[in-house]
Amino acid sequence: MDKTKILFVCLGNICRSPSAEAVMKALVDKNGIGSRFEIDSAGITGYHAGEPADQRMQRHAINRNIRLTSISRQVKSPDDFEYFDYIIGMDDQNMDDLYHLSPNDTSEKISKMTDYCTQHSNTSVPDPYYGGAAGFELVLDILEDACAGLLNHIEEDGQ
Ligand code: 4NP
Repeated sequence: MDKTKILFVCLGNICRSPSAEAVMKALVDKNGIGSRFEIDSAGITGYHAGEPADQRMQRHAINRNIRLTSISRQVKSPDDFEYFDYIIGMDDQNMDDLYHLSPNDTSEKISKMTDYCTQHSNTSVPDPYYGGAAGFELVLDILEDACAGLLNHIEEDGQ
């Protein structure tokens, strides 16, 4: 069976999308189905390419036993849009940028992270970069909710 390939995308790929990647990997591993997935993340910008995740984001994640190991990279078009099955943005600006970057027949792969939430009414995963501790905690709260919903959605899709 082909793996389900998921790419999480935010602006810089050092806070939200590397966290989404790590939360989703931990969730599928916990369910014993990690080998069925390929999970990655990328940034709309390449400003932080080659860097590990933001130290503050890493510390908040570690407190939940989530280890952020990915190295920032920029989204590649058309390659990422052709390769991945799900391309998931964190906020409305990410969504606009992804639709602009996507080659013609790939835009149906794009969705927004908060669309999978069942416990939170947020319509975006807010950028925590210029804020304080509460922002990093909120990112993780929303991502844990959204990843559970995303996994249910994928299982219902029969992929
Ligand atoms: P992210 O957060 O998009 O969640 O990785 C940000 C990281 C860096 C910047 C903005 C947002 N920045 O302006 O450098």
